[in-house]
This record gives sequence, structure tokens and C-alpha cells, in this order.
Amino acid sequence: MQIRKLGKSGLLVPTVGMGTWRTFDIRGNQAEANARLVVDTALSAGVTFFDTSPMYGEAERVLGLGLKGRRKTVRIATKVWADNTSQGLSQAKRSLSYFGDCIDLYQIHNLLNWEDHLTMIERLKKEGKVLALGATYYSSHSFLELRRVMESGKIEAVQIPYNVEQREVEKDILPLAADLDLGVVIMRPFGGGNHLLRRPSESQLAPLAPFGVTTWAQALLKWSLSDPRCHSAIPATSKSEHVLENAAAGDPPWFGQDERNYVLRLAQKL
Ligand SMILES: NC(=O)c1ccc[n+]([C@@H]2O[C@H](COP(=O)([O-])OP(=O)(O)OC[C@H]3O[C@@H](n4cnc5c(N)ncnc54)[C@H](OP(=O)(O)O)[C@@H]3O)[C@@H](O)[C@H]2O)c1
Repeated sequence: MQIRKLGKSGLLVPTVGMGTWRTFDIRGNQAEANARLVVDTALSAGVTFFDTSPMYGEAERVLGLGLKGRRKTVRIATKVWADNTSQGLSQAKRSLSYFGDCIDLYQIHNLLNWEDHLTMIERLKKEGKVLALGATYYSSHSFLELRRVMESGKIEAVQIPYNVEQREVEKDILPLAADLDLGVVIMRPFGGGNHLLRRPSESQLAPLAPFGVTTWAQALLKWSLSDPRCHSAIPATSKSEHVLENAAAGDPPWFGQDERNYVLRLAQKL
């Protein structure tokens, strides 16, 4: 059995979680019922980690509704995304109201005003309303700044883009995260869906079957999660069938270097 070290917060197990950008930014009974179905399916498939943000419009509210009565069975990662401390505090209050007065992983979204927000989040942590602190950035442009936040010693997890096209984190961020024992959440595992527009054939995927991988989405997810420095990958989806397909890629056996290289070669040929 492959044993994977957890980040120091201990919150993140290597598995497929779920993002909510765009897919949960919805309104109306029908759309909200569909979101609830997606959450139901995710829970039934063993998904226990959900990522959201006040930046995603209705997503926090819709996720909170979808989880009604089941909040305690999952881990919630949300974010503060505010220009100043008072806005940040209002956001925090609203987020806490959606998630039973507790946020498992509270992240600084896009590093905006991070020093001030870290102080606010540390206070919430002391009050028991936040369990772990994190920071996110969506592109390599601010990885230098992200490294400063990581090195501050104040956060327990980072959320970064990592997929077959965006591999900049391999240079500094993943090694640093491993050195500091930080949890790593992978955003955009499908490049926002672009990497699924073209797919390899069944016969090209066949060598990955011993790893429980039968679809291209599963190959891409397992590719990222098979880096031992990574923890949860958080694909977003509005479709229950995709939830099931994605969740099935979250268990060992993980790919070795040969299989990871093979997936990269397949991606380059598309
Ligand atoms: N902190 C940040 O700056 C930041 C930035 C970006 C993202 N994020 C987080 O990371 C999460 C994931 O990133 P993302 O939403 O940008 O992109 P993504 O997860 O890479 O891709 C999402 C797209 O893939 C499609 N998809 C999902 N599973 C599929 C499957 N099995 N087969 C075919 N299509 C599938 C979805 O469409 P369907 O609805 O049709 O399934 C959706 O359009 C976000 O939701 C958010 O929580 C954070």
C-alpha cells in the first residue's frame, strides 16, 4: 500500500473533492435542486471536501443549502476575498452562517490583502470557528508572493493550479509545500474544462486500466493526485454522472512516473 503524508493541518486526505466556481453560482428552484443532486451524488461517492468562495457569486449559499443536515460529514474550504478588514469580517460572518459556524479551511483568495486577513482568520481560529488557514493563487504571476505567505509559517495549506498544461508549481511551490508540510489543494485539474474537449481513444487509455482509470477525466485527475506532494483535487461539475466519474479517480493505486509521463504524452498528442 502507498502511504501518503498529510499536510500539517491533517484535514486533507489524498482524494477527489469538489470545486464550485461557476457550477454553483446559480439561482432558482430547478438549478438549486440540481446542485443538491450533485452534492447528494458527491456524498454517496465518498467526496468529503468542498471548495467555494464569496467570489463565486451564489456558490457558498447554494453549497450550504445542498449540504443541509450533512454539514458535519464534510470539510468546507472557503475564502476571504476583500479589499479591507471590515469587508473581510462581513464575508467571514456570512460564510460561517452558511456552514454551521465553522470553516474547516479558510483561505486568502488570490492573496488579496493577505497580511490583514491572516490576522482576522487567526482570531477566528482561536475562537474555534476556523480549523486551518490557507492561501490560493490561480497563476504563476504571483508565486513569489505565494511563497512569502507559505514561508510566513502562518498557513497550513495552499491551493494552486496544477494540470497537464500548467505545471509551474513543480519548480518551487510543490517542493516548498512538501518541505513545510503544507496541504496542497489542486484547482483547475481540467484546465477549466479545456483539457476535456479532446480525448484519447479507449485503446490509448487501456494501459491505465490497472489503476482504475477508464476515462480521460479520470486520467487527468489521477495524474495530479499521483504527485505525492498533492492532496485534494477539486474538479467542478454541474453533472451527477461527472461527479461519479471524477470521484472514482481519487483512490490508490496512484500512478508512478511512467504512467504520469504516459498521460503527459497523450495530452500533448491531442
Ligand atoms: N482560488 C482560485 O483562484 C481559483 C481559481 C479557479 C478555480 N478555483 C477552484 O478550483 C475549482 C476547479 O476549477 P475550475 O472550476 O476552474 O475548472 P476544472 O475543475 O478544471 O473544470 C471544470 C469544468 O470541467 C467540466 N467537467 C468536470 N468533470 C467532468 C467530466 N468528468 N467530464 C467532462 N467534463 C467535466 C465541468 O463541466 P460540467 O459541469 O459539464 O461537468 C466544468 O466546466 C473551482 O470550481 C474552484 O473551486 C479556484
